Amino acid sequence: MPTNRQFLIDHLPTGKLTPDVFKLSDGPMPSVADGEVLVRARYISLDAANRAWMWGATYRAAVKQGEVMAGGAMAEVVESKAPGFAPGDLVWAETGWQDYAAIKAEHLEKLGPAKAGQPITYLMNVYGIAGLTAYFGLLECGQPKAGETVVVSAAAGSVGTLVGQIAKIKGCRVIGIAGGAEKCELLTRELGYDAAVDYKAPEFTKALRAAVPKGIDVYFDNVGGRVLEACLFNMNNHGRVACCGAVSQYDEPSAHGPRGVPGLIVTKRLTMRGFVVMDFEAQNPNALADLSSWVASGQLRVREDIVDGFENLPAALIGLLAGDNVGKRMVKVV
Ligand SMILES: NC(=O)c1ccc[n+]([C@@H]2O[C@H](COP(=O)([O-])OP(=O)(O)OC[C@H]3O[C@@H](n4cnc5c(N)ncnc54)[C@H](OP(=O)(O)O)[C@@H]3O)[C@@H](O)[C@H]2O)c1
Repeated sequence: MPTNRQFLIDHLPTGKLTPDVFKLSDGPMPSVADGEVLVRARYISLDAANRAWMWGATYRAAVKQGEVMAGGAMAEVVESKAPGFAPGDLVWAETGWQDYAAIKAEHLEKLGPAKAGQPITYLMNVYGIAGLTAYFGLLECGQPKAGETVVVSAAAGSVGTLVGQIAKIKGCRVIGIAGGAEKCELLTRELGYDAAVDYKAPEFTKALRAAVPKGIDVYFDNVGGRVLEACLFNMNNHGRVACCGAVSQYDEPSAHGPRGVPGLIVTKRLTMRGFVVMDFEAQNPNALADLSSWVASGQLRVREDIVDGFENLPAALIGLLAGDNVGKRMVKVV
């Protein structure tokens, strides 16, 4: 009888995330009811938002003490009591941090097969939430035009690496904001960014201003806080801010907003638009066709950050929040 390893929430964090928040436990094997499918997690996705869910309800229910830690995974069907799913099928599922989960069929999304010559993990990366978020956030909310200046924060992360490259494909001048000289160098050397600015450097605001001599037309905001503030002060009239997330505030007990809201929104006639990737679900086929053609042509390079071993989930999430990752971070379970 296989065991079902689980990470439970021992207690909810009140400050920075620490490993003791999670408790490793051997859970029962789930029983499968009619209409449900038993799946086994293969790769568990790590997302900055995992931490935000611990503060309360967002676009999904809050994570609660005693529960299995929430999270999405690429999983394999082990047993099916629902039409349309058979053992061996690959699905995207909200398994949580555990080996096995029994999930209602309507909550599963079939994945695959992998495209020829591409790793299977691309299905939960560039063809999954990261790719679709970058695509819709930039193109629908940002509305970039060729020749405009686009700035992206958390630019070396899973969403950010893709946003910058898509903006380049659309003919924009692209500046990435990331933590540390090494990541900034990677953005210009490997991912085609025109310039990169280190938000951890003491002269960040000056360096940002110097990097955008014509001002910012589109800012893709993954972080909020003081980086958002610095960008707002450099926005051009009628600029667009795509509000994707606020990772600078997820692991902080006292989040604070930027100066310039609403003053700069008024005087510069800015549009700030928040979005959640599911808002654009009906357009997924078009987005996926574009993303796969850009990957195939080599215009879009995909970065993966795969951590091996279920037991490393807590450290991998803590590391993601500290900026250890480049590209899409996930944990390989089996
Ligand atoms: N709206 C949606 O539908 C949607 C969907 C998916 C993701 N998102 C959002 O997209 C953003 C990126 O998420 P992700 O899961 O792809 O993670 P990620 O960008 O791969 O990783 C998070 C990155 O955030 C950066 N970071 C951490 N603390 C920071 C701080 N205080 N200030 C600035 N940057 C900081 C780190 O890079 P550095 O080394 O550069 O600090 C880290 O690598 C998040 O805000 C997330 O909520 C939104």
